Amino acid sequence: MTMALTLHPPDTWQIRPGDYTLRGTVMIPGDKSISHRALMLGALAEGETEIRGLLLGDDPRSTAACFQALGANISELSSDVVMVQGAGTLQEATDILDAGNSGTTLRLMLGILASQPGKFYAVTGDSSLRGRPMKRVVQPLQAMGATIWGRSQGKLAPLAIQGQTLKPIHYQSPIASAQVKSCILLAGLHTPGTTTITEPTLSRDHSERMLQAFGANLVVDTELCQVKITGPGQLRGQQVTVPGDISSAAFWLVAAAITPGSELFLPNVGVNPTRTGVLEVLEAMGAKIAIENFRIVTGEPVADLRVCSSSLQATVIEGNILPRLIDEVPILAVAAAFAQGTTVIRDAAELRVKESDRLQAIATQLGRMGVKVTELADGLEITGGSSLQGVEVDSWGDHRMAMSLAIAGLQAQGITTIQRGAAATVSYPNFTESLEAVLQS
Ligand code: S3P
Repeated sequence: MTMALTLHPPDTWQIRPGDYTLRGTVMIPGDKSISHRALMLGALAEGETEIRGLLLGDDPRSTAACFQALGANISELSSDVVMVQGAGTLQEATDILDAGNSGTTLRLMLGILASQPGKFYAVTGDSSLRGRPMKRVVQPLQAMGATIWGRSQGKLAPLAIQGQTLKPIHYQSPIASAQVKSCILLAGLHTPGTTTITEPTLSRDHSERMLQAFGANLVVDTELCQVKITGPGQLRGQQVTVPGDISSAAFWLVAAAITPGSELFLPNVGVNPTRTGVLEVLEAMGAKIAIENFRIVTGEPVADLRVCSSSLQATVIEGNILPRLIDEVPILAVAAAFAQGTTVIRDAAELRVKESDRLQAIATQLGRMGVKVTELADGLEITGGSSLQGVEVDSWGDHRMAMSLAIAGLQAQGITTIQRGAAATVSYPNFTESLEAVLQS
């Protein structure tokens, strides 16, 4: 059997066209959001935290390295078991803390560092992260009394933080962002009194679930999209089992849906309702997805997913569902390219400040492949049904773009060459191996 995918060198992917079907089982790597939080809360807790199913991507590795530098004892990273011996109080790191490509690492860590009295920290990230907005967390932390300096009046990393005892606030966030919410909650954990955060619509709630499990005094009002945390609180180490990441499962859901004759089984995927927008949109487009064996695993809803190919119809993606599928827009754009009619995506301006400007990245790269796509200020219009051309495209150094383009390339006429494909290791280190394993021709 010829390989459908070759790596030239490992950073450039080449997808050869073929008469493929996708069949079999894909084990989905651990949820990235939950992996970060398990490492961070484990590092802050008293006693031991045992993490099973941790994502071994670059982003959680950045979190682990930062918290090790802050004094936590973290065993060698493994998707089997990782032990975290909490530091209780974090020490000053002897060097700049580097969050790499990971916005979650940097923004959540800022809330923790700003609330460590008497300690000084410096934080940075890679060139993508240094261009992403930090004001969204720096401003509410400053309202709590935090002292933070950085480029562009503290709007951009590198940032320097003089930790101190903060004061509680009620923060009305203008955006539904779990990174903003979690940053404030983690600052509130160490702050005497009750810190409240209200968001315009509900963003992913992994922090709330895990903070409660670790013993924080935290109350959620889902109707009001409001969370209150009363500090100072001391977390206690827990056992955490990380489910498969629905954002990673999304590549297979779309790949199987658009490839005739396909059927994939995806066991053990997190189906937290704040993350399942992708399932609702794909079902509305006519995808055949079965959700089986629903259960709760360490406070998070989990299920096995089964997906078969089907013909897809265009849809409209707008409003409150956006935060529930924000990371899946690149692969949903690929689904739209194979659906009948014009799919409209609105209210998605947040995509401009992700690992890349994803609206522009999708529009230009899918456009090169022959997809009819118009970039809107806050979204995309994609007309499906025209045949895709295998050409040279670029991931823009963005993991989700790399994998979305690979799935699109499977159906293109001619070879698709994806520059900077290796960006996928941020969230999905063995994506290419899993793709080879389920491709049948
Ligand atoms: C994340 C929140 C989301 C998401 C990101 C992970 C998290 O970002 O896009 O990949 O783990 O809290 P925002 O909070 O900026 O929307």
